[in-house]
Amino acid sequence: MCSLSKDLPLVIAHRGAAGEAPENTLAAFQLALEQGCDAFELDVHLSKDGQIVVIHDYSVDRTTTGQGAVSELTVEEMKQYDAGAWFHPSYAGERIPTLEEVIAMTPEHIHINVEIKGGIGQGIEEKLVELLRRLNRTASIFVSSFHWNCLRTLNQIEPSLRVGLLYDLSLKDYALLPKAAGVNAYSLHPHFGKLEAEAVKAAVAQGVAVFPWTINGEADMARMIDMGVSGIITDYPGKLRQLLEQQSA
Ligand code: G3P
Ligand code: MG
Repeated sequence: MCSLSKDLPLVIAHRGAAGEAPENTLAAFQLALEQGCDAFELDVHLSKDGQIVVIHDYSVDRTTTGQGAVSELTVEEMKQYDAGAWFHPSYAGERIPTLEEVIAMTPEHIHINVEIKGGIGQGIEEKLVELLRRLNRTASIFVSSFHWNCLRTLNQIEPSLRVGLLYDLSLKDYALLPKAAGVNAYSLHPHFGKLEAEAVKAAVAQGVAVFPWTINGEADMARMIDMGVSGIITDYPGKLRQLLEQQSA
């Protein structure tokens, strides 16, 4: 089981190392591991045949050679599309992975932040819990979503699963947010541009982790570290790891 007892902030690779490899592919997660990340952030939807697939958009158009809505395609159909060539020819041959495939290549000490995008209210919550129980990986996953109703559902079906409120709001009183949302939240995932040091302090003091997104510049990374955030979600996990190593040298 992975815990937050290690040095903070966690280096959380956004969609894998999405700045340097095609987002949400096994290649991007592999690169993030090589760059010393502590966790992956990834986005999930339900395929037409009810599997949890790792892709950001509601359609495959932007990041693959295929076309169509993720919810209208089976995994077998999606696997025919190239999910790497759009980024760089050297990544040709990458495929949209299922969540199970990503978990299979992830060492147990690495956290996975599963961000639920699609399939909400269509069974994705139950299927996620089933998958994590079957793979015995409930403890190394934390789930976030902009759709807070899905977090409430997860609280009900698996109270031990960590969930986090994802939002793009400027709220000063972060510590009150989980209660207001009716979610038993392990973490808050605010947009970094709207984050204030006092708010971070208040949340962390109440035992709620703060994982802002998506921070790619060194000056912003340094500012987040100074604020005392619990983890930093970045497209450049290697750059963040280097900065943290320089600071502790
Ligand atoms: O989970 C943080 C971040 O990924 C939320 O926005 O659109 O990049 O999924 P998006
Ligand atoms: Mg995301």
